[in-house]
Amino acid sequence: MARPRVSPQPEVPGLAARRIAADIIDGVLRRRLPLDEQLSGKSAHFGLPTLAERDRALTRRLVATVLRRLGTLRHLVGGFLDKGFPAEAPRIETILLIGAAQILWLDVPDHAAVDLSVRLAQADRRGSRYAGLVNAVLRRVAQSRSSFDANDASRDTPAWLMARWQKTYGEETARDIAQANGHEPALDITVKANAESWAEHLHGDVLPTGTVRTLAHGAISLLPGFVEGAWWVQDAAASIPARLFGDIAAKEVCDLCAAPGGKTAQLANAGAKVTAVDRSPARIARLKENFARLKLDVETVAADALEWQPGKQFDAVLLDAPCTATGTIRRHPDVPWLKSENDLGVLTPLQSKLLDRAVDLVRPGGTLVYCTCSLEPEEGEAQIAALLARDPRVVRSPIAAAEVFGHAEFVTEAGDLRTLPHYLPDEDPRWAGLDGFFAARLIRKDA
Ligand SMILES: C[S@@+](CC[C@H](N)C(=O)[O-])C[C@H]1O[C@@H](n2cnc3c(N)ncnc32)[C@H](O)[C@@H]1O
Repeated sequence: MARPRVSPQPEVPGLAARRIAADIIDGVLRRRLPLDEQLSGKSAHFGLPTLAERDRALTRRLVATVLRRLGTLRHLVGGFLDKGFPAEAPRIETILLIGAAQILWLDVPDHAAVDLSVRLAQADRRGSRYAGLVNAVLRRVAQSRSSFDANDASRDTPAWLMARWQKTYGEETARDIAQANGHEPALDITVKANAESWAEHLHGDVLPTGTVRTLAHGAISLLPGFVEGAWWVQDAAASIPARLFGDIAAKEVCDLCAAPGGKTAQLANAGAKVTAVDRSPARIARLKENFARLKLDVETVAADALEWQPGKQFDAVLLDAPCTATGTIRRHPDVPWLKSENDLGVLTPLQSKLLDRAVDLVRPGGTLVYCTCSLEPEEGEAQIAALLARDPRVVRSPIAAAEVFGHAEFVTEAGDLRTLPHYLPDEDPRWAGLDGFFAARLIRKDA
């Protein structure tokens, strides 16, 4: 006899978004997978396309909040666990962190945050017996809300990184950086033209850097101007290095570490003839897609800059070197949990070699801009000091405060650019801050 067909139970609304968020957080914390790769592109979580846009946005927000406030969450939730997080069921920790993040920072009713977390625990093969514990702990989190300072981000930077920033910038500035990293940043975009009018369309503001800043959320590709290629996403600080060349129209420029092409696009949009080099063919493909959308011209080369032989020199070279990216934690809250001090040992020798190569590729009289989105001096100030000491062909061309919109605090004593995440303060933290960047401008002086 044929059995009656049983259709699967429809899933409780909102559960899939939380389960996928838990998978992605586990991907970062337990498998060291970069967040960007899990959210978009070929390696993105297979469940994301099955979610409605609203749930996808919730997943992204949950993941970012848990990673951004990880130290605080672990401390608070851990305080309610007599025996710590269950080691044999690691998913329970993730479920508790996601539940607590919803109660403390998201607009989710407590009962929904608790109920959905309990369901996630029940569905976990190793952790189902902790479902009662999840229920009890999250109820205590909700009760503790009135005595909890949701803005205190002092536990959210790993100790090794905080110690570095204290050494480099002093106690107070290190605290300000950590605090700035605790806030979700606004969306910054660089427009091809008509910043004021795009700011109006996007309900944003024009920053002194010319960047349009908006609080618009959701899918970037659905925002006005994206499809027609009127702008691209770029943090306000990231837009400064390419401007340091001054008038670049009709000049031959080489962008040595170009992909995905934010700075390349600025150079092309300013009228330069740009050759964009990157060693990652996949990232060069993304750059080409971006340029097709923006209707900008560029010559692309997928090659290792250390080996590439163009057979000529350029009027200007931009070297946006690979780095630890510790200046971008506001936008990439996975960085502190993926990177370690050991990465500096790999990256700094590569940066030095790339710098030497970049100098070779600048014609005498031409300009080289070196930049990194790192707060670590080994990847910025120290690289330039070492280059100037070993290569008499280059001299520093100091940056004036007027070139950075009068923000004298953006310029070091030596004349380099150094932005910190707590600069550009605003009463409303959603509008404040910019990435931490270093940039130096050098001139090749030999004949
Ligand atoms: C900081 S990202 C560049 C960001 C880009 N300039 C932008 O504004 O969108 C660094 C890039 O350097 C590339 N890269 C790393 N080592 C390289 C090498 N030896 N030669 C060429 N590109 C390299 C990486 O693939 C990565 O895309």
